[in-house]
Amino acid sequence: MRYFITGTAGFIGFHLARRLLQEGHEVTGFDGLTPYYNVKLKEMRHAALSQFPAFRPVISMLEDRPALEAAVSAAKPDILIHLAAQAGVRYSLENPEAYIHSNVEGSWNIMEIARRVEVRHLMLASTSSIYGANATVPFHETDRADEPLTIYAATKKSMELMAHSYSHLHKIPTTAFRFFTVYGPWGRPDMALFKFTKNMLEGQPIEIYGEGNMSRDFTYIDDLIEAIVRLS
Ligand SMILES: NC(=O)c1ccc[n+]([C@@H]2O[C@H](COP(=O)([O-])OP(=O)(O)OC[C@H]3O[C@@H](n4cnc5c(N)ncnc54)[C@H](O)[C@@H]3O)[C@@H](O)[C@H]2O)c1
Repeated sequence: MRYFITGTAGFIGFHLARRLLQEGHEVTGFDGLTPYYNVKLKEMRHAALSQFPAFRPVISMLEDRPALEAAVSAAKPDILIHLAAQAGVRYSLENPEAYIHSNVEGSWNIMEIARRVEVRHLMLASTSSIYGANATVPFHETDRADEPLTIYAATKKSMELMAHSYSHLHKIPTTAFRFFTVYGPWGRPDMALFKFTKNMLEGQPIEIYGEGNMSRDFTYIDDLIEAIVRLS
């Protein structure tokens, strides 16, 4: 099958693309290589994917609608998986604008294009952060998720809402995933696991949020990729 995946130079997109390429699918990978964290790591992920002849990288931003449209039209995908986003909860306090551009405008561009090319399945990465002020754990898909506590969560919830209306209006089969903190090789250097490891190796104290009273579950990358592949 032909897949169009956004965010292939990112952590999750890289793993997903590699798995699909290993299984013999064609993958077009769209990524703007944003400087949110070390771009060298993103380039290395794309270089690893480029070992597969069926991988076609496109370096561009989601907000550049003509570039996005041209890339999707050329790829003629059966399945479109939208993972590119401005991620990270903390950074959304510092630079909310990046979240509005990438996650709201960028995601809307994806939906506009998906309806024209009539993909068989549109899959979107949302986040467990959208449960926000919801205090009941464990979370369920049916729980209320309309009290986001950060702009990151608010933009992801906005994407889900837009997707709901596009799916209804244009009959696009759509799935939005709410990922729970994902970890594994080639992971994101802005996330706790990598920050803790780096500080430990350097003999530095680790920074702990929430006065050390916080606990959470993590998802291993291979388990997440298995779930996405089975649902696609
Ligand atoms: N990793 C997690 O634990 C986690 C948890 C919940 C949700 N998510 C979501 O999963 C998706 C993938 O996350 P990740 O951990 O791989 O993040 P990542 O930052 O490693 O990957 C995102 C990629 O998107 C690209 N990108 C960002 N904005 C762009 C834009 N405007 N145009 C083009 N490319 C752009 C970046 O260059 C990057 O390579 C994101 O949507 C994220 O919000 C991740």
